[in-house]
Amino acid sequence: MKRIFDITPWHVVTTEFKPENKRLQESMTSLGNGYMGMRGFFEEDYSGDSLPGIYLGGVWYPDKTRVGWWKNGYPEYFGKVINAVNFIKINVQLNGKSLDLAKTRFTDFKLDLDMQRGVLTRSFVVTEDDLRVAVTFERFLSAAQKELSVQKVTFKNLADAPVKIALASALDANVKNEDANYDEKFWEVHQVSADSLIAETMPNNFGTPRFTSGMQVSYVTDLTAGTVDQQAAATTAHFERDLAAGATATFEKRVVVVTSRDYDGDAALITAMARLTNQTASQSYADLLAAHTQVWADRWRQSDIRIEGDTAAQQGMRFNLFELFSTYYGDDPRLNIGPKGFTGEKYGGATYWDTEAFAVPVYLGITKPEVTRNLLMYRYKQLDGAYVNAQQQGLKGALFPMVTFNGIECHNEWEITFEEIHRNGDIAFAIYNYTRYTGDKSYVLHEGSKVLTEISRFWADRVHFSKRNGQYMIHGVTGPDEYENNVDNNFNTNYLARWSLAYTLEVLKEVSPEQAQQLGVSDAEKAHWQDIIGRMYLPYDKDLDIFVQHDGYLDKDLEPVAAIPADQLPINQHWSWDHILRSPYIKQGDVLQIMYDFIDRFTPEQLKHNFDFYEPMTVHESSLSAAIHAVLAADLKYEDKAVEFYNRTARLDLDNYNNDTDDGLHITSMTGGWIAMVQGFAGMRVKDDTLSYKPFLPKQWTKYSFRQVFRGRVIEVTVDAQGTHLELIDGAPLDVVVNGQTQTLARTK
Ligand code: BGC
Repeated sequence: MKRIFDITPWHVVTTEFKPENKRLQESMTSLGNGYMGMRGFFEEDYSGDSLPGIYLGGVWYPDKTRVGWWKNGYPEYFGKVINAVNFIKINVQLNGKSLDLAKTRFTDFKLDLDMQRGVLTRSFVVTEDDLRVAVTFERFLSAAQKELSVQKVTFKNLADAPVKIALASALDANVKNEDANYDEKFWEVHQVSADSLIAETMPNNFGTPRFTSGMQVSYVTDLTAGTVDQQAAATTAHFERDLAAGATATFEKRVVVVTSRDYDGDAALITAMARLTNQTASQSYADLLAAHTQVWADRWRQSDIRIEGDTAAQQGMRFNLFELFSTYYGDDPRLNIGPKGFTGEKYGGATYWDTEAFAVPVYLGITKPEVTRNLLMYRYKQLDGAYVNAQQQGLKGALFPMVTFNGIECHNEWEITFEEIHRNGDIAFAIYNYTRYTGDKSYVLHEGSKVLTEISRFWADRVHFSKRNGQYMIHGVTGPDEYENNVDNNFNTNYLARWSLAYTLEVLKEVSPEQAQQLGVSDAEKAHWQDIIGRMYLPYDKDLDIFVQHDGYLDKDLEPVAAIPADQLPINQHWSWDHILRSPYIKQGDVLQIMYDFIDRFTPEQLKHNFDFYEPMTVHESSLSAAIHAVLAADLKYEDKAVEFYNRTARLDLDNYNNDTDDGLHITSMTGGWIAMVQGFAGMRVKDDTLSYKPFLPKQWTKYSFRQVFRGRVIEVTVDAQGTHLELIDGAPLDVVVNGQTQTLARTK
C-alpha cells in the first residue's frame, strides 16, 4: 500500500506533490457542506491530469441512456450529478507568467485538509526565474451559511525584487462532465454580469425538472481591481499589484450559490444572491471562518470518536465522519447520501440502497431521529416512481430504484436495474431498524405501512411457485454480490422477500382501521403472503451447514481468494467480466449481509459456519463490504480479522485499498468505521427496547470512546484496559446491558 498523505489525527496532509497522484489527492481533500461540495482541485489552471468537480446537492441531469442493444424496460436515462459552474477559479500570473503547477517550478509544497475545522489549505513557494513568492490558497464551504463559498489567497514576496501579481478570478460555465454520454455541456447560460452568472441545465426529453443555479461573487483584497471581461459563459474579474520585496498581499473571494431548488425564477435568485452577498459584506474573513468552525466544533463534540494507540485508525475514523457530515447532516430532507457524495461524477450523486443498509444505522446513532425519519420519508415521497419501475417490469406494487434522484430508476445496466431487487427488502429493513432503534412507531404505522405494503405486493408478484418443489422461488436476480448476475434463488433476496412479507403482516395488525382501509390489503392477499412466507425456498447445504448464496454456487470451482496471484487483484481491474462471472469470488457480503442485518436471529454456529465459508471467497471489491465483515468477525471473537476489516473500511480511501479512489471517495462506506467500531468492537445492539454492549479492546489500541444518541439520551462509551465505562451525558436515566449485566445510567453532573 502506498500512502499519499501523512498519518496525523486531525489532518489529511502531505508535503509531496506528485502529478501521478493528482486525482487521488483531489478526492481525498474534498470539501462539502451538505448543500454543495467539491473535489480538492486547484483554483488556478493546471495543465496536467485532473478531475475538476463542484457539485450542487439535488442538481442533476437525465443523460439519455446509451446502450448497444435496447431491451424493453430499460430506463430511458442515466441520472447524472453535473459539474457545477466553476466558481472557485482564480488564475494567477507572476511577472506575466501563468502559474501552473504542472510546469511552474516550486518548493515547500503543502496540502492540508484540516478535518477539525473543515478548511483546505495549499501552500508552496514559486521559484521560477528569480522569483521567490510564497503562495497560500485557503478555502471552505461554510457550514454556517450553506450558500457560501469562501476563498483566500495570500502572496508573500520572499525575493529582493518586486513582483507583479495579476489575478483573473472567474465564474465559469465552460464546464463538462467527464462521464457525459454525448460529450455535451449541461449548462445553458441565462445571464452574465460583472459579478454574477445564472445558468440553467439543458432541456431534456424526459420531463424531469431543469435546475437553475445562480452565483454572485464579491472580493475583499488589497490588490487593485481592473477590468471585468464578460464572455458568453463566464465573467472574469482582473486584479493586480506590484508586490515589493518582503511584502504580503491577500485576495478573498466569496461566492454565494443559490439554485431553483430554493428560489423560483431568475428574479428570485437575483434577490436572494444580493441579500446573501450583503449579509456577508460586513463580516471579515475571520468572522466567516469562526462561524464555520463553530459548527464543526459542535459536530465533533457530539460525534467525535477517539482512538488511542493507533493514529492511522484514528485518522481513518475522523476522515469517515468528516466526509460523511460534509455530504449529509440531515439539514435538507429532499436530499440523500450519494455513494460518491460531492467528490466525483461516478454514481451520479444519486440515492442507492447504500443509504438504508449502511447510512441509516450510523445516522440513528449520531443524530436526532428526525434525520433518519427524513431519509425514510424520502422513499415514501418517491412511491409514485417506484410504481412506475415495477410496472415497467410488468409487476405489481412498488420497486424502489437501485439508483435514483426522483423515484424513477436512473441507472441503465440491466443486471443491476432489473435484477438487483434485494434493495426493496433493504428499504423495508430500514423501516424496521428505525423503529427498533428509536421506539418511534409514528412512521411505520403511517407512511411506513404504505411503503411496506407496496414492497410486499411487489414480492408477492415477483416470486413464482415451483410445482416440482412445492416452494416459492425468485429467479433471475443479482444479489449484493454483483460479481454474478441472473442467478436463481439468491439467499439474500429470498430471505428479504420472505422477511418483508412477514414484517408487513405484523405491522398491518397494528395500524389504525382507517389506515388499514386505505392500504386495502384483503384477507386473500394476506393469506397469499402467509403462504409465500411458509413455503419460500431458502437454499441451504446440510453438509456444510451454510446457506447457499444461490442455486449452483457450490458447483463452482471453489478456490479461496488466497489462491489468486496478488498481481491479479483487484480482479475487477485485471479480469474480463466473463471471467469474473464464472469465478466463485464474491464482491461483497451477500449471505453475510443478511447475517449482519439479522444477527440476533442466527445461532453462533450458523454465523461461524457461514463466515468461515464465505469470507475466504470474498474479494471485498465493493467499499461496502469490509464494515459488515468487521461486525461479524467481532461477534465471532475473530479479533484480528475484525481489526483488519476496521482498518480496511475506515481507511478505504485514504489507503486507496481498491485502487479506485481517483474518481471520488466512497461516501456511503464512510459509515464503515462507525459500524465496525460501535456495532463490532463495542458490540452495540438494540433488542426489545434494550440497548446492550459487549465490548472488546483491539490489542493495538489502548483506548477508544464514542458518543451515541439513543432515545433522547447521549451516552459516552469508553473502553480501555480497565474495562468499559458508560456515562450518561444527557437525558433521563436508562438501563443498559453490558456483557450481560444490567446497569442503570444516570447523570452525575
Ligand atoms: C456496490 C453496490 C453499491 C454501489 C454504490 C457498488 O460497487 O456493489 O452495492 O450500491 O457500488 O455504492
